[in-house]
Amino acid sequence: MSKTWRPATQLVHGGTLRSQYGETSEAIYLTQGFVYDTSEAAEARFKGETEGFIYARYGSPTNDMFEKRMCALEGAEEARSTASGMAAVTAAILCQVKAGDHIVAARALFGSCRWVVETLAPKYGIECTLVDGRNLENWEKAIRPNTKVFFLESPTNPTLEVVDIAGVAKLANQIGAKVVVDNVFATPIFQKPLELGAHIVVYSATKHIDGQGRSLGGVILSDKQWVDENLQDYYRHTGPAMSPFTAWTLLKGIETLPLRVKQQTQNAAKIADFLAEQGKVAKVIYPGRKDHPQADIIAKQMTGGSTLVCFELKGGKDAAFALQNALEIVKISNNLGDSKSLITHPATTTHKNLTDEARAELGISPGTVRLSAGIEDTDDLIEDFAQALAKVSA
Ligand SMILES: Cc1ncc(COP(=O)(O)O)c(C=O)c1O
Repeated sequence: MSKTWRPATQLVHGGTLRSQYGETSEAIYLTQGFVYDTSEAAEARFKGETEGFIYARYGSPTNDMFEKRMCALEGAEEARSTASGMAAVTAAILCQVKAGDHIVAARALFGSCRWVVETLAPKYGIECTLVDGRNLENWEKAIRPNTKVFFLESPTNPTLEVVDIAGVAKLANQIGAKVVVDNVFATPIFQKPLELGAHIVVYSATKHIDGQGRSLGGVILSDKQWVDENLQDYYRHTGPAMSPFTAWTLLKGIETLPLRVKQQTQNAAKIADFLAEQGKVAKVIYPGRKDHPQADIIAKQMTGGSTLVCFELKGGKDAAFALQNALEIVKISNNLGDSKSLITHPATTTHKNLTDEARAELGISPGTVRLSAGIEDTDDLIEDFAQALAKVSA
């Protein structure tokens, strides 16, 4: 396999493990275990003297293809596939900390990610400080002698704030801490956290990687040493492994990732520009627009806009609900990254567990709406928004 292949080629051919039958489409190896020709062969496999699979909780051929393909795309040495994005986030963080350690995380995180660092980790004696991640000084001020992990998502869910990944990585390297980046919103097409200096990247593969609303999945990517020293045992013994069937759907999903992300981004950009012109819309936040408050950082670390648009309606919750209810093509769903356009009202769904104060800190108001643009025809989507906005009271 060529390491110089560009992403679109890697995503169709990377990591392929063709069986003796020479199948075109990757095979699904739905097996829990593997057999050995002799007792000696089993012993050698367990001792690590020979290469090969042992048990599907540790790894299996279809998952291996998915992991290798993700490594090729991300520029990582090793990957482990997980049953969900949350399994990936939890494993990536918990496998490398112990009681007495300290995590610094951006406060603008997906709700479950925030629960892991803010609520779960302290139960095991791991301290956590949440900061406004937009400002590097806040990361620096939060550092303690026991800080081991920095955790962030960029752009954030739902208000599309960005964090200077290279800046956070520089701070982490000064104290020997590791940076974990949840790269879901950026997608591996538009942002490469490892190249920016981050140490570990996690994805909810449920989102753009599957992209067609079928499977829950996740993946953790890093260098071999970090995986060997931190993740390997945690992964094998706590069992967050992905089903081989899911790995197969995701292998099919990533073949078309660049095509889908390109069309979704084109749709998102056009809808963002359309919404910005509408009198009932108070504000549009879109990483591809020049008026994004952190356009300079976006230009430095992302190669494309986003498939997501965040906007605020002047009429608050009533207007947000009326708009969502009036849309015909765009469906109401808290999921994202799908080939179908999906819209959600974060204050009453994904971020409903936060206090009013915490929501206000993140810029989530009663009128805030998050759109995940799909791959439908751009003009149909704009017309759908136009007819739905006409039904929203001024
Ligand atoms: C930014 C982000 N991280 C992690 C997750 C968790 O992924 P999953 O639902 O696959 O567990 C999600 C969405 O659910 C998300 O939006």
